[in-house]
Amino acid sequence: MTTDQTALRNLAIEVLKENDQGSYTVPTKGLYPFQWNWDSCLTALGQAHFDEARAWTEIETLFAHQWPDGMVPHIVFHVYSDGYFPGPDVWGTNRPTATSGITQPAVAGFAVRRLFERASDRALAERKARELLPKIDKWHDWFYRNRDPEGEGLVAILHPWEAGRDNSVDWDEAFERVPTEGIAPYTRRDTEHADPSHRPTKAQYDRYLWLVEKFRSLGWDNARLHDASPFQVIDPGFNAILIRACADLADLADVLGETGIAAANRARAEKGVAALDALWSDKHGLYLCKDRTTGQLVESASLGGLLPAFSAIPVQRAAAIARTIERWSEAVPFIIPSQDPADPRFEPKRYWRGPVWLVTNYMIADGLAAIGEHGVAAHITRSSLDLITKSGFAEYYDPITAEPCGGGRFTWTAAMVLEFLDAARA
Ligand code: GLC
Repeated sequence: MTTDQTALRNLAIEVLKENDQGSYTVPTKGLYPFQWNWDSCLTALGQAHFDEARAWTEIETLFAHQWPDGMVPHIVFHVYSDGYFPGPDVWGTNRPTATSGITQPAVAGFAVRRLFERASDRALAERKARELLPKIDKWHDWFYRNRDPEGEGLVAILHPWEAGRDNSVDWDEAFERVPTEGIAPYTRRDTEHADPSHRPTKAQYDRYLWLVEKFRSLGWDNARLHDASPFQVIDPGFNAILIRACADLADLADVLGETGIAAANRARAEKGVAALDALWSDKHGLYLCKDRTTGQLVESASLGGLLPAFSAIPVQRAAAIARTIERWSEAVPFIIPSQDPADPRFEPKRYWRGPVWLVTNYMIADGLAAIGEHGVAAHITRSSLDLITKSGFAEYYDPITAEPCGGGRFTWTAAMVLEFLDAARA
Protein backbone atom coordinates (compact mmCIF):
# COMPACT_ATOMS: atom_id res chain seq x y z
CA MET A 1 0.00 0.00 0.00
CA THR A 2 1.20 3.53 -0.75
CA THR A 3 1.22 6.10 2.06
CA ASP A 4 -1.90 7.66 0.59
CA GLN A 5 -3.69 4.33 0.56
CA THR A 6 -2.68 3.61 4.14
CA ALA A 7 -4.01 7.02 5.18
CA LEU A 8 -7.30 6.34 3.38
CA ARG A 9 -7.56 2.94 5.02
CA ASN A 10 -7.03 4.43 8.47
CA LEU A 11 -9.66 7.11 7.84
CA ALA A 12 -12.16 4.49 6.69
CA ILE A 13 -11.59 2.44 9.85
CA GLU A 14 -12.02 5.61 11.92
CA VAL A 15 -15.45 6.27 10.33
CA LEU A 16 -16.57 2.68 10.92
CA LYS A 17 -15.51 2.81 14.57
CA GLU A 18 -17.09 6.19 15.12
CA ASN A 19 -20.53 4.94 13.96
CA ASP A 20 -20.24 1.63 15.83
CA GLN A 21 -22.86 1.31 18.60
CA GLY A 22 -21.39 -1.94 20.00
CA SER A 23 -23.51 -4.59 18.29
CA TYR A 24 -24.70 -2.64 15.26
CA THR A 25 -23.50 0.35 13.27
CA VAL A 26 -25.55 3.43 12.33
CA PRO A 27 -25.22 4.56 8.68
CA THR A 28 -24.31 8.05 9.89
CA LYS A 29 -25.02 10.04 13.01
CA GLY A 30 -27.99 12.43 12.83
CA LEU A 31 -29.66 11.54 9.53
CA TYR A 32 -29.86 7.76 10.18
CA PRO A 33 -29.64 6.92 13.92
CA PHE A 34 -30.65 3.21 13.80
CA GLN A 35 -29.63 -0.05 12.09
CA TRP A 36 -30.40 -0.40 8.37
CA ASN A 37 -30.57 -3.83 6.75
CA TRP A 38 -28.36 -3.74 3.64
CA ASP A 39 -26.11 -1.09 5.15
CA SER A 40 -25.22 -3.51 7.95
CA CYS A 41 -24.48 -6.45 5.66
CA LEU A 42 -22.14 -4.37 3.49
CA THR A 43 -20.65 -2.70 6.56
CA ALA A 44 -19.65 -6.11 7.90
CA LEU A 45 -17.43 -6.61 4.83
CA GLY A 46 -15.53 -3.49 5.83
CA GLN A 47 -15.33 -4.43 9.50
CA ALA A 48 -13.85 -7.81 8.60
CA HIS A 49 -10.71 -5.98 7.42
CA PHE A 50 -9.83 -5.12 11.01
CA ASP A 51 -12.14 -7.11 13.32
CA GLU A 52 -13.72 -10.34 12.08
CA ALA A 53 -15.69 -11.06 15.22
CA ARG A 54 -17.26 -7.62 15.09
CA ALA A 55 -18.25 -8.19 11.45
CA TRP A 56 -20.20 -11.35 12.31
CA THR A 57 -21.93 -9.54 15.18
CA GLU A 58 -23.20 -6.85 12.79
CA ILE A 59 -25.15 -9.39 10.73
CA GLU A 60 -26.16 -11.45 13.75
CA THR A 61 -27.76 -8.40 15.37
CA LEU A 62 -29.78 -7.73 12.23
CA PHE A 63 -31.06 -11.32 12.10
CA ALA A 64 -31.96 -11.26 15.79
CA HIS A 65 -34.81 -9.00 14.64
CA GLN A 66 -36.07 -11.22 11.82
CA TRP A 67 -39.85 -11.53 11.91
CA PRO A 68 -41.45 -14.91 12.70
CA ASP A 69 -42.65 -15.13 9.06
CA GLY A 70 -39.05 -14.80 7.80
CA MET A 71 -38.93 -11.13 6.79
CA VAL A 72 -35.86 -9.15 7.78
CA PRO A 73 -36.93 -5.52 8.30
CA HIS A 74 -35.27 -2.56 6.65
CA ILE A 75 -34.76 -0.64 9.91
CA VAL A 76 -34.30 -1.85 13.50
CA PHE A 77 -35.06 0.96 15.94
CA HIS A 78 -32.71 -0.18 18.72
CA VAL A 79 -32.91 3.08 20.66
CA TYR A 80 -35.32 5.96 20.94
CA SER A 81 -34.58 8.98 18.76
CA ASP A 82 -36.95 11.68 17.62
CA GLY A 83 -34.48 12.80 14.95
CA TYR A 84 -35.87 10.41 12.34
CA PHE A 85 -39.21 10.25 10.59
CA PRO A 86 -41.13 7.93 10.16
CA GLY A 87 -40.33 6.44 13.57
CA PRO A 88 -41.73 3.34 15.34
CA ASP A 89 -45.13 4.88 16.13
CA VAL A 90 -45.81 5.48 12.43
CA TRP A 91 -44.81 1.94 11.45
CA GLY A 92 -46.75 0.37 14.32
CA THR A 93 -45.35 -3.12 13.73
CA ASN A 94 -45.67 -4.33 17.35
CA ARG A 95 -42.32 -6.08 17.46
CA PRO A 96 -40.47 -6.63 20.79
CA THR A 97 -37.83 -4.19 19.54
CA ALA A 98 -39.48 -1.76 17.14
CA THR A 99 -38.74 -2.29 13.45
CA SER A 100 -40.08 -0.97 10.18
CA GLY A 101 -42.52 -3.22 8.32
CA ILE A 102 -40.83 -3.46 4.92
CA THR A 103 -37.58 -5.08 3.83
CA GLN A 104 -34.47 -4.11 1.81
CA PRO A 105 -32.15 -5.70 -0.79
CA ALA A 106 -31.22 -9.20 0.35
CA VAL A 107 -27.47 -8.77 0.32
CA ALA A 108 -26.90 -10.91 3.46
CA GLY A 109 -26.36 -14.22 1.63
CA PHE A 110 -23.62 -12.67 -0.47
CA ALA A 111 -22.00 -10.92 2.51
CA VAL A 112 -21.99 -14.01 4.71
CA ARG A 113 -20.44 -16.16 2.02
CA ARG A 114 -17.73 -13.56 1.44
CA LEU A 115 -17.02 -13.22 5.17
CA PHE A 116 -16.84 -17.00 5.45
CA GLU A 117 -14.46 -17.40 2.53
CA ARG A 118 -12.06 -14.74 3.70
CA ALA A 119 -12.14 -15.53 7.41
CA SER A 120 -8.86 -16.25 9.12
CA ASP A 121 -10.66 -17.46 12.26
CA ARG A 122 -12.10 -20.59 10.59
CA ALA A 123 -13.77 -22.01 13.69
CA LEU A 124 -15.62 -18.77 14.38
CA ALA A 125 -16.63 -18.43 10.75
CA GLU A 126 -18.00 -21.94 10.59
CA ARG A 127 -20.02 -21.48 13.79
CA LYS A 128 -21.45 -18.14 12.68
CA ALA A 129 -22.20 -19.26 9.13
CA ARG A 130 -24.01 -22.36 10.42
CA GLU A 131 -26.18 -20.21 12.67
CA LEU A 132 -27.01 -17.68 9.96
CA LEU A 133 -27.58 -20.13 7.11
CA PRO A 134 -31.16 -21.26 8.02
CA LYS A 135 -32.17 -17.70 8.88
CA ILE A 136 -31.08 -16.33 5.53
CA ASP A 137 -32.72 -19.28 3.78
CA LYS A 138 -35.96 -18.47 5.63
CA TRP A 139 -35.75 -14.87 4.42
CA HIS A 140 -35.23 -16.00 0.83
CA ASP A 141 -38.20 -18.35 1.14
CA TRP A 142 -40.26 -15.46 2.55
CA PHE A 143 -39.47 -13.39 -0.54
CA TYR A 144 -40.65 -15.95 -3.07
CA ARG A 145 -43.73 -16.91 -1.03
CA ASN A 146 -44.94 -13.38 -0.37
CA ARG A 147 -43.58 -11.31 -3.23
CA ASP A 148 -43.91 -13.75 -6.11
CA PRO A 149 -47.35 -15.24 -5.54
CA GLU A 150 -47.68 -16.53 -9.12
CA GLY A 151 -44.26 -18.20 -9.01
CA GLU A 152 -42.77 -16.32 -11.96
CA GLY A 153 -39.29 -16.36 -10.42
CA LEU A 154 -39.05 -12.61 -9.73
CA VAL A 155 -40.15 -10.75 -6.60
CA ALA A 156 -41.90 -7.38 -6.39
CA ILE A 157 -41.11 -4.51 -4.06
CA LEU A 158 -44.19 -2.92 -2.50
CA HIS A 159 -42.54 0.32 -1.38
CA PRO A 160 -39.74 2.29 -3.08
CA TRP A 161 -37.71 2.21 0.15
CA GLU A 162 -37.46 -1.57 -0.19
CA ALA A 163 -35.31 -1.15 -3.31
CA GLY A 164 -32.76 0.86 -1.33
CA ARG A 165 -32.89 3.34 -4.24
CA ASP A 166 -35.53 5.39 -2.48
CA ASN A 167 -36.72 7.93 -5.05
CA SER A 168 -35.33 6.60 -8.32
CA VAL A 169 -37.00 7.70 -11.56
CA ASP A 170 -37.97 4.02 -11.87
CA TRP A 171 -40.87 4.47 -9.46
CA ASP A 172 -42.37 7.70 -10.86
CA GLU A 173 -44.97 6.12 -13.14
CA ALA A 174 -46.15 3.42 -10.75
CA PHE A 175 -46.13 5.95 -7.92
CA GLU A 176 -48.72 8.07 -9.77
CA ARG A 177 -51.21 5.37 -8.91
CA VAL A 178 -50.56 5.63 -5.17
CA PRO A 179 -53.09 8.00 -3.58
CA THR A 180 -52.24 10.61 -0.96
CA GLU A 181 -55.67 11.23 0.54
CA GLY A 182 -56.22 10.70 4.23
CA ILE A 183 -52.61 10.47 5.44
CA ALA A 184 -51.95 11.78 8.95
CA PRO A 185 -50.19 15.18 9.15
CA TYR A 186 -46.42 14.83 9.57
CA THR A 187 -43.12 16.69 9.85
CA ARG A 188 -40.14 15.41 7.89
CA ARG A 189 -36.79 15.23 9.68
CA ASP A 190 -34.51 14.31 6.75
CA THR A 191 -34.63 17.85 5.36
CA GLU A 192 -33.18 19.13 8.66
CA HIS A 193 -30.06 17.01 8.18
CA ALA A 194 -29.58 17.30 4.41
CA ASP A 195 -30.16 19.87 1.67
CA PRO A 196 -33.94 19.78 0.88
CA SER A 197 -33.27 20.35 -2.84
CA HIS A 198 -31.35 17.04 -2.90
CA ARG A 199 -34.05 15.05 -1.09
CA PRO A 200 -37.30 13.47 -2.31
CA THR A 201 -40.17 15.89 -2.91
CA LYS A 202 -43.22 16.35 -0.66
CA ALA A 203 -45.48 14.65 -3.23
CA GLN A 204 -43.20 11.60 -3.06
CA TYR A 205 -43.11 11.65 0.73
CA ASP A 206 -46.92 11.74 0.92
CA ARG A 207 -47.06 8.57 -1.14
CA TYR A 208 -44.34 6.85 0.90
CA LEU A 209 -46.53 7.45 3.93
CA TRP A 210 -49.77 6.45 2.29
CA LEU A 211 -48.27 3.02 1.60
CA VAL A 212 -46.98 2.67 5.17
CA GLU A 213 -50.42 3.58 6.56
CA LYS A 214 -52.13 1.16 4.17
CA PHE A 215 -49.88 -1.74 5.18
CA ARG A 216 -50.25 -0.86 8.86
CA SER A 217 -54.05 -0.97 8.43
CA LEU A 218 -53.60 -4.58 7.23
CA GLY A 219 -51.71 -5.44 10.42
CA TRP A 220 -48.47 -5.96 8.43
CA ASP A 221 -49.79 -9.35 7.40
CA ASN A 222 -47.39 -10.22 4.60
CA ALA A 223 -49.78 -12.76 3.14
CA ARG A 224 -52.10 -9.83 2.31
CA LEU A 225 -49.83 -6.92 1.47
CA HIS A 226 -48.77 -7.88 -2.05
CA ASP A 227 -52.22 -8.11 -3.58
CA ALA A 228 -53.48 -5.10 -1.61
CA SER A 229 -50.67 -2.82 -2.75
CA PRO A 230 -51.22 -0.40 -5.65
CA PHE A 231 -47.42 -0.35 -5.95
CA GLN A 232 -45.86 -3.64 -7.11
CA VAL A 233 -42.65 -3.19 -9.06
CA ILE A 234 -40.22 -5.86 -10.25
CA ASP A 235 -36.84 -4.17 -9.92
CA PRO A 236 -34.08 -6.01 -11.83
CA GLY A 237 -31.45 -4.71 -9.39
CA PHE A 238 -33.31 -5.88 -6.32
CA ASN A 239 -33.93 -9.28 -7.92
CA ALA A 240 -30.32 -9.60 -9.04
CA ILE A 241 -29.07 -9.05 -5.50
CA LEU A 242 -31.49 -11.69 -4.22
CA ILE A 243 -30.49 -14.09 -7.01
CA ARG A 244 -26.79 -13.61 -6.23
CA ALA A 245 -27.52 -14.14 -2.53
CA CYS A 246 -29.41 -17.38 -3.31
CA ALA A 247 -26.52 -18.66 -5.43
CA ASP A 248 -23.96 -17.72 -2.78
CA LEU A 249 -26.04 -19.26 0.00
CA ALA A 250 -26.32 -22.46 -2.06
CA ASP A 251 -22.52 -22.65 -2.39
CA LEU A 252 -22.04 -21.96 1.30
CA ALA A 253 -24.66 -24.58 2.22
CA ASP A 254 -22.81 -27.13 0.08
CA VAL A 255 -19.58 -26.47 1.99
CA LEU A 256 -21.43 -26.85 5.28
CA GLY A 257 -23.17 -30.04 4.16
CA GLU A 258 -26.68 -28.53 4.24
CA THR A 259 -27.86 -30.11 1.02
CA GLY A 260 -31.55 -29.15 1.36
CA ILE A 261 -30.76 -25.45 1.74
CA ALA A 262 -28.27 -25.70 -1.11
CA ALA A 263 -30.78 -27.25 -3.52
CA ALA A 264 -33.61 -24.83 -2.66
CA ASN A 265 -31.43 -21.76 -3.15
CA ARG A 266 -29.80 -23.01 -6.32
CA ALA A 267 -33.27 -23.58 -7.81
CA ARG A 268 -34.36 -20.04 -6.83
CA ALA A 269 -31.25 -18.54 -8.42
CA GLU A 270 -31.61 -20.49 -11.66
CA LYS A 271 -35.29 -19.67 -12.05
CA GLY A 272 -34.59 -16.00 -11.28
CA VAL A 273 -31.79 -15.63 -13.82
CA ALA A 274 -33.98 -17.16 -16.53
CA ALA A 275 -36.95 -14.92 -15.67
CA LEU A 276 -34.80 -11.77 -15.56
CA ASP A 277 -34.15 -12.00 -19.27
CA ALA A 278 -37.67 -10.79 -20.10
CA LEU A 279 -36.66 -7.40 -18.64
CA TRP A 280 -33.71 -6.87 -20.99
CA SER A 281 -33.77 -3.76 -23.22
CA ASP A 282 -31.54 -3.72 -26.30
CA LYS A 283 -32.32 -0.05 -26.77
CA HIS A 284 -30.81 0.94 -23.40
CA GLY A 285 -28.27 -1.86 -23.01
CA LEU A 286 -29.60 -2.76 -19.57
CA TYR A 287 -32.58 -4.31 -17.79
CA LEU A 288 -35.78 -2.37 -17.07
CA CYS A 289 -38.23 -2.49 -14.19
CA LYS A 290 -41.61 -4.07 -14.76
CA ASP A 291 -44.79 -2.77 -13.22
CA ARG A 292 -46.64 -5.88 -12.10
CA THR A 293 -49.99 -4.07 -11.86
CA THR A 294 -49.94 -3.22 -15.59
CA GLY A 295 -47.52 -5.85 -16.91
CA GLN A 296 -45.57 -3.08 -18.67
CA LEU A 297 -41.82 -2.43 -18.66
CA VAL A 298 -40.86 0.96 -17.20
CA GLU A 299 -39.05 3.24 -19.65
CA SER A 300 -36.25 4.36 -17.29
CA ALA A 301 -32.56 3.55 -17.76
CA SER A 302 -31.16 3.46 -14.23
CA LEU A 303 -28.63 1.81 -11.98
CA GLY A 304 -31.24 -0.85 -11.19
CA GLY A 305 -30.83 -2.11 -14.74
CA LEU A 306 -27.02 -2.37 -14.44
CA LEU A 307 -27.03 -4.21 -11.11
CA PRO A 308 -27.86 -7.60 -12.66
CA ALA A 309 -24.16 -7.71 -13.59
CA PHE A 310 -23.81 -8.78 -9.93
CA SER A 311 -25.68 -12.03 -10.66
CA ALA A 312 -24.99 -14.89 -13.06
CA ILE A 313 -26.67 -13.36 -16.13
CA PRO A 314 -25.48 -14.49 -19.58
CA VAL A 315 -21.98 -13.19 -20.37
CA GLN A 316 -23.14 -11.24 -23.44
CA ARG A 317 -25.65 -9.34 -21.28
CA ALA A 318 -22.98 -8.46 -18.71
CA ALA A 319 -20.67 -7.35 -21.53
CA ALA A 320 -23.45 -5.13 -22.91
CA ILE A 321 -23.87 -3.60 -19.43
CA ALA A 322 -20.12 -2.86 -19.38
CA ARG A 323 -20.49 -1.01 -22.73
CA THR A 324 -23.45 0.96 -21.33
CA ILE A 325 -21.34 2.07 -18.37
CA GLU A 326 -18.58 3.16 -20.76
CA ARG A 327 -21.12 5.13 -22.77
CA TRP A 328 -22.49 6.85 -19.63
CA SER A 329 -18.93 7.64 -18.52
CA GLU A 330 -18.42 9.81 -21.61
CA ALA A 331 -21.11 12.15 -20.25
CA VAL A 332 -19.96 12.38 -16.60
CA PRO A 333 -16.42 12.32 -15.16
CA PHE A 334 -17.34 10.14 -12.13
CA ILE A 335 -19.16 6.82 -12.41
CA ILE A 336 -21.61 5.12 -12.01
CA PRO A 337 -24.44 7.68 -12.09
CA SER A 338 -27.75 6.32 -10.81
CA GLN A 339 -29.62 7.43 -13.94
CA ASP A 340 -28.59 7.60 -17.60
CA PRO A 341 -27.08 11.11 -17.89
CA ALA A 342 -28.79 11.45 -21.30
CA ASP A 343 -32.21 11.01 -19.67
CA PRO A 344 -33.94 14.43 -19.23
CA ARG A 345 -34.98 13.28 -15.74
CA PHE A 346 -31.30 12.90 -14.67
CA GLU A 347 -30.56 15.17 -11.66
CA PRO A 348 -26.91 14.97 -10.53
CA LYS A 349 -27.54 15.92 -6.89
CA ARG A 350 -30.98 14.53 -6.14
CA TYR A 351 -31.13 11.30 -4.23
CA TRP A 352 -30.92 8.24 -6.56
CA ARG A 353 -31.88 10.28 -9.64
CA GLY A 354 -28.32 10.81 -10.86
CA PRO A 355 -25.72 10.70 -8.05
CA VAL A 356 -23.05 8.01 -7.53
CA TRP A 357 -23.15 5.54 -4.60
CA LEU A 358 -20.14 3.43 -3.65
CA VAL A 359 -22.21 0.40 -2.65
CA THR A 360 -23.77 -0.03 -6.07
CA ASN A 361 -20.38 0.65 -7.67
CA TYR A 362 -18.97 -2.18 -5.57
CA MET A 363 -21.57 -4.76 -6.55
CA ILE A 364 -21.43 -3.93 -10.25
CA ALA A 365 -17.61 -3.91 -10.31
CA ASP A 366 -17.57 -7.24 -8.49
CA GLY A 367 -19.84 -8.83 -11.10
CA LEU A 368 -18.00 -7.36 -14.07
CA ALA A 369 -14.60 -8.45 -12.76
CA ALA A 370 -15.96 -11.98 -12.32
CA ILE A 371 -16.83 -12.26 -16.03
CA GLY A 372 -13.50 -10.77 -17.12
CA GLU A 373 -14.55 -7.15 -17.81
CA HIS A 374 -11.47 -6.01 -15.90
CA GLY A 375 -11.12 -2.66 -17.68
CA VAL A 376 -14.54 -1.36 -16.70
CA ALA A 377 -14.29 -2.88 -13.21
CA ALA A 378 -10.96 -1.09 -12.68
CA HIS A 379 -12.47 2.15 -13.98
CA ILE A 380 -15.30 1.90 -11.42
CA THR A 381 -12.81 1.20 -8.62
CA ARG A 382 -10.63 4.15 -9.65
CA SER A 383 -13.57 6.51 -9.89
CA SER A 384 -14.80 5.41 -6.44
CA LEU A 385 -11.41 6.05 -4.81
CA ASP A 386 -11.05 9.39 -6.65
CA LEU A 387 -14.37 10.53 -5.19
CA ILE A 388 -13.20 9.69 -1.68
CA THR A 389 -9.85 11.41 -2.12
CA LYS A 390 -11.53 14.55 -3.48
CA SER A 391 -14.62 14.68 -1.30
CA GLY A 392 -14.33 12.44 1.77
CA PHE A 393 -16.63 9.72 3.06
CA ALA A 394 -20.00 11.14 1.99
CA GLU A 395 -23.31 9.35 1.59
CA TYR A 396 -23.20 9.89 -2.19
CA TYR A 397 -21.62 12.14 -4.86
CA ASP A 398 -22.50 14.36 -7.79
CA PRO A 399 -21.12 12.51 -10.87
CA ILE A 400 -20.28 15.78 -12.64
CA THR A 401 -18.60 17.83 -9.89
CA ALA A 402 -17.77 15.11 -7.29
CA GLU A 403 -19.54 17.26 -4.69
CA PRO A 404 -20.17 15.25 -1.50
CA CYS A 405 -23.92 15.04 -0.81
CA GLY A 406 -26.27 13.76 1.90
CA GLY A 407 -24.88 12.63 5.25
CA GLY A 408 -21.15 12.83 6.01
CA ARG A 409 -18.78 10.30 7.66
CA PHE A 410 -20.89 7.56 6.11
CA THR A 411 -20.49 3.97 7.27
CA TRP A 412 -21.07 1.91 4.13
CA THR A 413 -19.00 4.31 2.06
CA ALA A 414 -16.10 3.68 4.46
CA ALA A 415 -16.67 -0.08 4.31
CA MET A 416 -16.59 -0.03 0.51
CA VAL A 417 -13.36 1.98 0.53
CA LEU A 418 -11.66 -0.87 2.42
CA GLU A 419 -12.96 -3.27 -0.21
CA PHE A 420 -11.93 -1.05 -3.13
CA LEU A 421 -8.43 -0.57 -1.72
CA ASP A 422 -8.07 -4.35 -1.78
CA ALA A 423 -9.38 -4.53 -5.35
CA ALA A 424 -7.03 -1.72 -6.45
CA ARG A 425 -4.06 -3.62 -4.96
CA ALA A 426 -5.08 -6.79 -6.77
C1 GLC B 1 -31.36 5.84 2.38
C2 GLC B 1 -30.96 4.98 1.20
C3 GLC B 1 -31.01 3.52 1.60
C4 GLC B 1 -30.11 3.29 2.82
C5 GLC B 1 -30.44 4.28 3.95
C6 GLC B 1 -29.42 4.25 5.07
O1 GLC B 1 -32.66 5.62 2.77
O2 GLC B 1 -31.77 5.22 0.10
O3 GLC B 1 -30.60 2.69 0.56
O4 GLC B 1 -30.23 2.00 3.28
O5 GLC B 1 -30.48 5.59 3.45
O6 GLC B 1 -28.13 4.49 4.57
